[in-house]
Amino acid sequence: MAGVTDLPFRHLCRRMGAGLVVAEMLTADHRLWHTRKSQLRMVHADEPEPRMVQIAGGDPQMLAEAARLNAERGAQIIDINMGCPAKKVCNKAAGSALLKDEALVADILNAVVQAVDVPVTLKIRTGWCQDSRNGVTVARLAESCGIAALAVHGRTRADGFRGEAEYDTLAAIKAAVSIPVFANGDIDSPAKAAAVLAHTGADAVMIGRAAQGRPWIFREIDHYLREGKLLSPPPLAEVRQLLLEHLAALHAFYGKEQGARIARKHVGWYLAQQPGGQNFRKEFNTIDSAEQQVEALSKYFNHLSEITEVAA
Ligand SMILES: Cc1cc2nc3c(=O)[nH]c(=O)nc-3n(C[C@H](O)[C@H](O)[C@H](O)COP(=O)(O)O)c2cc1C
Repeated sequence: MAGVTDLPFRHLCRRMGAGLVVAEMLTADHRLWHTRKSQLRMVHADEPEPRMVQIAGGDPQMLAEAARLNAERGAQIIDINMGCPAKKVCNKAAGSALLKDEALVADILNAVVQAVDVPVTLKIRTGWCQDSRNGVTVARLAESCGIAALAVHGRTRADGFRGEAEYDTLAAIKAAVSIPVFANGDIDSPAKAAAVLAHTGADAVMIGRAAQGRPWIFREIDHYLREGKLLSPPPLAEVRQLLLEHLAALHAFYGKEQGARIARKHVGWYLAQQPGGQNFRKEFNTIDSAEQQVEALSKYFNHLSEITEVAA
C-alpha cells in the first residue's frame, strides 16, 4: 500500500504473523526512480524473504524493464498493480484502468512474465464497473499468461472504496482458475477472514487498512484459522512497546525530520483504539522533533497504564 507499507511497517507485519508482505507500489517508469520517494520504496535491507515488489504502469515494455531491474536488485516476486483506482495512476492508463482493455492486459502480462525468472503475480479488482465485472476473464487471461498468483479486491474500479466489498465474484474467480487466489477487501477480523475464505474458497486473505495501527491482526487471524479460537487483544504494555519500536524504526529509516512527519499517521491509527487517543493525537501532531515524539508517547502510555490499573 502506497504511503503505508514501507520497510519499517513491512518488518513489523512479518513479525506479527503476516505470511507475505508487498512493498509500496513503484512506478514502472524507471526515469522517475531517482526521486527520494522511489529510492526509499526500493530499499529491502534485511527484509524477510520473499521480497515482493509491486510495479504500476500501462506500457508493456516499460513494465517488463521495471520488473527486470527490480529482479536484478533482489526482488523475488514481482506483482503488477491492476487494482489501483487513483486518478494519478488511471490518467496514465495504469492500475485498474487497464481492466477495461483486455488485449493490453495480455500484452503487459506476457511481457513481464517473459522478462524475469522470478514469479509474477497480479493484483486486480473484480472489474471495471458494476455492469462490467470482467474479473473472471482477466483471471483466466492471467493464468494463461503465466501469472503465478492473483490477488482480488472485491470492488470494481468504479466503486473506489465506496460500499462494501463483495465476495461472489471472488468465488467465481477462484473457481475459474487453478493458480492461488488471495481474497481482499474489508477483511478486518479473524471471523471475517474465516467467513471470506469459506465463501470464496480462496487460498489466502490479503489485509490492507485493518492492519494500520493494528499489525497484530495477522497473528490474530493466523491463530483463529489454525486453532478456531480468538487470541486476547495485545496487552497495553505490548502495544506501547510495538508502537515505540515502530516509531524508532520510522525515525531511523526516513531520518528524524521526515520520519517524525510520517510517524503521525501511524501513531494516529494506533491511538484511534485507545482511551483519550483522539485528544492526545491532536497534541502529538504539533510535535516536530523525533525525541519529543518518543517522550510524549511514553508519557501518554504511562498515564494510560495508571488509569487502567486504577480501573482494575
Ligand atoms: C492508503 C492506501 C494505499 C494503497 N496502495 C495500494 C498499492 O500501492 N497497491 C495496491 O495494489 N493496492 C493498494 N491499495 C489497495 C489495498 O491493497 C486493498 O486492495 C484495499 O485497501 C482493500 O483492502 P482492505 O479493505 O483490506 O484495505 C491501497 C489502499 C489504501 C487505503
